[in-house]
Amino acid sequence: SKINLKDYQKPSFDVETVHLDIKLFEDYAQVNSTLKMVRQTIGDIVLFGESLELLSIIMNDKALTSEHYQQEDGKLTIYEAPDEVTLDIQVRICPQTNTALEGLYMAGSGDDTMFVTQCEPEGFRKITFYPDRPDVLAIFTTRLEADKRYPTLLANGNLVEAGEVADAPERHYAIWQDPTNKPSYLFACVIADLDVLTDSYTTSEGRDVLLEVYAKSADIDKCDVGMQALKDAMKWDEVNYGRAYDLDRYMIVAVSQFNMGAMENKGLNIFNTACVLSSPETTTDARSFSVKAIIAHEYFHNWTGNRITCRDWFQLCLKEGFTVYRDQSFSADQQSSAVQRIDDVATLRAHQFAEDAGPLAHPVRPESFVEINNFYTTTVYEKGAEIVRMIANTLGPDDFRKGTDEYFRRYDGQAVTVEDFLSALSITDDKIEDFIDWYRQPGTPVVSGSQTYDSAAQTLTITLNQQTRHVKGFDAPKPLPIPVATALFDKDSGAIVAEHMLLLDEATQTFVFENVASEPVVSLLRDFSAPVQLNYDYQDADLAFLLKHETNGFNRWQVTQMLVNRILLQSQGAKSSPDVYLEALAQTLPVLAADDAMLAARLLDIPSAQELASAIPQDYDPVLVKEQRDGLYQQVADKLKDQWATLYNDLPMQSYEDSAQARGIRALRNVVLDMALTANVEGAADWAQQQYDHASCMTERFGALKAMVNHQLPKANHYLTDFYKRFQANDLVIDLWFSVQAAADDVTPDVIKSLIAHTDFDWNTPNRVRSVIGAFSSQPTVLWTAEGLKMYTDVIKKLDDANPVLASRLLQVLARWNTLAEPRRQMAHEQLTDLRKNVSSKHVLESLESVLGA
Ligand code: ARG
Ligand code: ZN
Repeated sequence: SKINLKDYQKPSFDVETVHLDIKLFEDYAQVNSTLKMVRQTIGDIVLFGESLELLSIIMNDKALTSEHYQQEDGKLTIYEAPDEVTLDIQVRICPQTNTALEGLYMAGSGDDTMFVTQCEPEGFRKITFYPDRPDVLAIFTTRLEADKRYPTLLANGNLVEAGEVADAPERHYAIWQDPTNKPSYLFACVIADLDVLTDSYTTSEGRDVLLEVYAKSADIDKCDVGMQALKDAMKWDEVNYGRAYDLDRYMIVAVSQFNMGAMENKGLNIFNTACVLSSPETTTDARSFSVKAIIAHEYFHNWTGNRITCRDWFQLCLKEGFTVYRDQSFSADQQSSAVQRIDDVATLRAHQFAEDAGPLAHPVRPESFVEINNFYTTTVYEKGAEIVRMIANTLGPDDFRKGTDEYFRRYDGQAVTVEDFLSALSITDDKIEDFIDWYRQPGTPVVSGSQTYDSAAQTLTITLNQQTRHVKGFDAPKPLPIPVATALFDKDSGAIVAEHMLLLDEATQTFVFENVASEPVVSLLRDFSAPVQLNYDYQDADLAFLLKHETNGFNRWQVTQMLVNRILLQSQGAKSSPDVYLEALAQTLPVLAADDAMLAARLLDIPSAQELASAIPQDYDPVLVKEQRDGLYQQVADKLKDQWATLYNDLPMQSYEDSAQARGIRALRNVVLDMALTANVEGAADWAQQQYDHASCMTERFGALKAMVNHQLPKANHYLTDFYKRFQANDLVIDLWFSVQAAADDVTPDVIKSLIAHTDFDWNTPNRVRSVIGAFSSQPTVLWTAEGLKMYTDVIKKLDDANPVLASRLLQVLARWNTLAEPRRQMAHEQLTDLRKNVSSKHVLESLESVLGA
């Protein structure tokens, strides 16, 4: 059943305090709760509960029987409640068999188990009956009791008491109290046997905070990077937003079975091991950098999400969009801001643009859903962040800070909406309220334009227009406010002659630049000032000019991407020959390599096959796209064939260092190695082996392994075996081992089958499933075959009941089946229709309806 934003109603009862008592036993847990509730408006008490065995429910000391309440569809409704109520509820749950990884669940197996929670968005209702909605804020006290085999007992807030259980010498307990009002989705607890890395931080307000990162003893040596990132993030939020931490303790717990990246539970973050553990020997630079970003993301939620939370789940982007914008800004301060922007835009284009163009398109703030878990999407997160960025850029740093200060001042301790957010941000400029349409309207706007130069008047006129596709089920799209950062470059000197932020907020607009001495080359959408597609009537030569002269590193990358798209999307009316692109690269790369290795590495980016596919609305032929893509890659490799050896040798391996420069060198070296192998440069196979054998860190070792596998070097299998043996004990590295094989250029369904049959494959560990199935889906030529798709949909079938959140996410990858050329399209349609008969979770069914409704 669908839930609609327009039907929002305040809860009839508020919860003031909750006492939770969770006793864990061998094969179940007993959960007793005491809720003090106060009436807000007329109406019954509505509690949510799923997969619970209700033992008793007592209201104001009177046991309730079935005539006092009704239980239906995960809702428990209590009739005729007085205005002040104390509810005592007893339930039994079974965390040991909870494979959905929502609520309280067991991770691990055999002797190596731990118990953790994931409550966002609606997991708390799998722990006990509760008004499990984000606009009900309460003070939580949590008592945990378990066997002493699990010495680590953690919950939100401050530890107030711990000890042995009377009459049960093998058991112990701990009581935690969280002084802040919070919604149930921010509840967390952990029952485990973990080691801890400890540190401290003194806030700008003078509060001493104990910092703890908990992990299995074998992993505790991989927690320093995360700890440092936490301290950096705490400082950063004080400096940039005036936000200091508000409790005496901040805990992070690493768990190997987790559906998402991490979770910002108040004072007790729970992290996927992949998103918190990092060491040079076992973690690639890219992964390690994202560990820091995710630590910062969860920390920033303490203010944007926890102190100020969402009124309802339609407002998810309120906390996620803003927090992603904040973590992107944090990351931009840790490396070159151009490269950070390139990474963020590349992700946005590859995933969000595709989502917005297909059957799963939805507004940044959806207006209806069946299962909110299906809306933790790149549209909500990344497009949501882009809207905040446009607002920040429109206001400028000072007024943006005034706006965010006002937001924190006005709404601290409340559950609010996107409108509230915009109203605070618009205190210095009420045009900011116009950005609301960005939240309401799905689809990526296409901005097209052209220029005319009048040499007599010395004016340049730029005409821009915007168009957004009309998505079925929504109102006809309106023009949006689109900031277009623009610079004019003098053709002779290459210097900037004018810079301006144009605001396109009508369907078509004309902008006139005066006193322009000669016709300039115009650079638009600098730093990607808006999440739109740009079609400007550039000549290839203009783009080559910009690659050379743009001072904005992001835009240098952007013109390479425009050139590549023009070459590769011939079937969509593109018409460029690769010559200009190849020549421009050949000129730029050697210079840039010495200057900014990371940016140089990015200039060689060619969009992935899936990203290219997302620009093809019909008759998409995966084999053809792959051929063209590989063909261009080969041309680049051949064009610079004589240079790879010099480039590679100029990037010598050094002892490991975690600086932006060292990361840039490692990234470029891996790209160059792959190019050299592609061009058949003499000796390149030896470079790969040397790089593997003498690697100082995982980036070097894995880069070499990946190149050997993708180029099917004779020694590839030998090195795969070596890699496995070296890192057998480390799950996260073994994930890499699986993924490099599953995403290999020559992968076949049989390879995937054998990986699934491997003893280390585990259906209950989402990281492992993604390392094979997720990696495999990056090869469209194999995925979109009868055998490939059968295997993929079988996986969804298998996970539908056990872990519907994961199953539904995997399904979303198939959204663009409808654009395939026949006979693949028909084949995909049959398999998806068949899948519908074999699944039952509302998660998968909702996604499948959208995907098939295309
Ligand atoms: N709020 C978390 C984050 O963005 C994500 C949790 C999502 N969990 C889920 N089951 N959908 O940091
Ligand atoms: Zn988040």
